[in-house]
Amino acid sequence: MGEIMGFKVAVAGATGNVGREMLSVLAERGFPADEVVALASRRSQGTEVSFGDRTLKVKTLDTFDFSDVDICLMSIGGAVSKEWSPKIARQDCVVIDNSSAWRYDADVPLIVPEVNADAVAGFRKRNIIANPNCSTAQLVVALKPLHDRATIRRVVVATYQSVSGAGKEAMEELFTQTRAVFVSDPLDSKKMPKRIAFNVIPQIDVFQDDGFTREEWKMVAETKKILDPKIKLVATCVRVPVFIGHSEAVAIEFENPITADEARDILREAPGCLVVDKREDGGYVTPYEAAGEDATYISRIREDPTVDNGLMLWVVSDNLRKGAALNAVQIAEVLVNRKLIEAKRKAA
Ligand SMILES: NC(=O)c1ccc[n+]([C@@H]2O[C@H](COP(=O)([O-])OP(=O)(O)OC[C@H]3O[C@@H](n4cnc5c(N)ncnc54)[C@H](OP(=O)(O)O)[C@@H]3O)[C@@H](O)[C@H]2O)c1
Repeated sequence: MGEIMGFKVAVAGATGNVGREMLSVLAERGFPADEVVALASRRSQGTEVSFGDRTLKVKTLDTFDFSDVDICLMSIGGAVSKEWSPKIARQDCVVIDNSSAWRYDADVPLIVPEVNADAVAGFRKRNIIANPNCSTAQLVVALKPLHDRATIRRVVVATYQSVSGAGKEAMEELFTQTRAVFVSDPLDSKKMPKRIAFNVIPQIDVFQDDGFTREEWKMVAETKKILDPKIKLVATCVRVPVFIGHSEAVAIEFENPITADEARDILREAPGCLVVDKREDGGYVTPYEAAGEDATYISRIREDPTVDNGLMLWVVSDNLRKGAALNAVQIAEVLVNRKLIEAKRKAA
């Protein structure tokens, strides 16, 4: 029998915000792939994307043969994922999906490796693993070590989410509107429900009957599935005129006492977390500084005097990295490092 070769990885949605970042993260981390293919829609066929110091020619998803591909990192919208992920998965290719199409299915693991890597075990049932929403990923990385120590009862979170979370067209909309304001051109909102330049919008995704938006609901459902179904969470999700990096103001109530100093020490040791918390001008992290970085930054750790056992935090991360591309590649690394998958191709 031939020697096993490295993995063949497909990045679907490779021309998008998340897909481009996936290619960067795969290259930076030296993921053990012999071959990486870039896929997108017919619109992008033949265009080029960067992969480390190489360029890849983009192929079309709907004519691509996945039979010798081991892992597909999928970052296209939910409707395309609904159609394509099962077809790809049936070709014995594990799909790690970034859309919300599969996250809430009981037999699809929803994974943040620092928090619940062991839950990946059941992935063969569907051959699909889901990546959480960007705002949930960074939140649970910060909550998990504190939950292990003092047991979280309730979380109240307000998000400040960048436009890159809504895709590349939303980034263009912020840029175009900002320029239009300066040159007194008329403003046009296509991707955002209202003007985003020099504004904030308290709506991400669609409204539900209960008055919450779907984004707010996702944070509740995903935190329960990833971390603990007993945690109560309530969110207000807000879009802000920032290109990259989501911020969150988080109020947490615990079962057991925990001081700000204890929380700071715990978070300093926690995987994926970086504490920057000096009680002085600028002694905290903003999204501008978090862009392009892997860590979930935690600042402004303080006790909440209005409840028993309460803490307040400021949590910032690059939504395209921990919120999407990095998390997806970390899931692929869990599969490889735990020997849960084998490369299909063998050397001659
Ligand atoms: N941005 C974030 O922070 C974030 C975080 C977590 C999850 N997600 C999710 O990840 C997914 C991608 O987000 P994004 O921000 O990268 O979006 P994006 O920048 O708008 O990119 C979308 C990608 O999907 C491709 N695509 C669209 N329709 C297609 C089709 N019919 N067949 C094949 N490819 C198609 C596009 O290819 P073309 O260039 O050829 O059109 C492009 O590569 C979404 O489901 C999003 O909700 C995003």
